[in-house]
Amino acid sequence: MADLTTEFCGFKVKNPVGVTSCDFGGVEKLVRRVGEQGIGWIIGKTVHKIDGPHRWPRPFFYSLRRFGNDLKDTWCCSQMFHNMEYERWLDEELPKCLKTCKELDILYIASCSGIGPDAETWIPFLKDLAERGCKLIELDTGGPHATFGAIDAHKDVGAPLALDPDTAFKVTKACVDAVDVPIIFKTTPQCVNAAAVAVAIRNAGGHAISGNNAFYGAWIDHETGTFYGVPGSMGGLLGRAWQPFSLAKILETTATIPEVPFIGGGGVFTYDDVARHLMAGCDLVGMCSAVYSRGIGVLGKAITGLNKWMDEKGYKSIKDIPDLTKDFMYLRDWKREGPYMQDTTPVVPEFDDAKCTRCGVCETLCPYGAIKLDKDAGTTPVYELDKCYGCGWCCGHCTPNAIVMKNRKTGQIVWNGYGEIADWVTDEEGY
Ligand SMILES: Cc1cc2nc3c(=O)[nH]c(=O)nc-3n(C[C@H](O)[C@H](O)[C@H](O)COP(=O)(O)O)c2cc1C
Repeated sequence: MADLTTEFCGFKVKNPVGVTSCDFGGVEKLVRRVGEQGIGWIIGKTVHKIDGPHRWPRPFFYSLRRFGNDLKDTWCCSQMFHNMEYERWLDEELPKCLKTCKELDILYIASCSGIGPDAETWIPFLKDLAERGCKLIELDTGGPHATFGAIDAHKDVGAPLALDPDTAFKVTKACVDAVDVPIIFKTTPQCVNAAAVAVAIRNAGGHAISGNNAFYGAWIDHETGTFYGVPGSMGGLLGRAWQPFSLAKILETTATIPEVPFIGGGGVFTYDDVARHLMAGCDLVGMCSAVYSRGIGVLGKAITGLNKWMDEKGYKSIKDIPDLTKDFMYLRDWKREGPYMQDTTPVVPEFDDAKCTRCGVCETLCPYGAIKLDKDAGTTPVYELDKCYGCGWCCGHCTPNAIVMKNRKTGQIVWNGYGEIADWVTDEEGY
């Protein structure tokens, strides 16, 4: 069995899988419920003193499952910050949560929110949490919905804080200077300049970054002719489908400042999602909406799945998992044909007659109408060179793996539908 122990901001963690801030970390009975699944860490539900976000509409979870199988894990949510009065939580729940985490060997990370960019409003929470024994504190700076129900003066609470590098710097610096406990800044996937925000957090002395928070979402029930859930855009749009978007933002940060510890998450549902985030430079990987969508068992399954995958790959410890951040690049730097794309594609599909099941998916999905399959004749599909763009769509959709993309001139396999495409452009062809 591989060794899953790892380290985060100087603390030993029994495995990298945990639960990001949500109501599972809000009260002891729920901490225990997910804690007994074997997680290594948990982030508390965001505590605050803002009037509004502690009162959630009931019901507050709206599954989109009934709108199509492709939406089965997708949902919207109008749950906001911690619903319990802050002082009561501090006196009654926090000590119990800390005790249970100690008993179950789980690293507890507190989460709080001041009022937007007003840095001074964050400090009292940090001091309270540090005094009560919290060893790490996350700033809920990326929350998508904190303005819901809040008064106008609180409109900058949540995501707006994580959109602007100057604001991120100011809030992080004030918090880092206020207490001796490591401060984690939480990002939003809605930020277009994630790397700039990350650098600002690092420059302000932030000890770690976590990301991502949820997107905004809205849905309309076409049958009732009304909105679905609450009318308007809701704070959380959740589901595995958002992982590629969140992962891109994470990579922008982890590739830019690999030295800053990172808690990754956003659409993590399975052990391979965890593996993917570890490869993307995350130190810890969090699951949240998956636990609601598929039940608490996803946590234990992700941990055992990760262990089994590591054994199969021969990774003895988390450190052995490859770090892809050093290979991360922006598309503009990829070598391409130049100065213009050639009229006739140099990269074309090649069909393997023995593997092809004649299912016709390639013909149906070819965006350019370039592939023809004669089902009656039972022959392999063919492509028309003057229609083909060399896009790879057929190859990526071929479940029997009967298609590879090849360089017409050299015969080099450019893509087989797995891993990266080859850098096939020569100096003669490219720039
Ligand atoms: C029900 C629910 C409640 C959440 N509450 C909070 C919160 O109080 N503070 C916070 O920082 N993030 C909160 N989040 C965001 C999650 O911690 C996480 O960042 C986000 O959902 C993306 O991860 P996921 O795709 O694994 O759900 C909440 C998410 C959900 C689904």
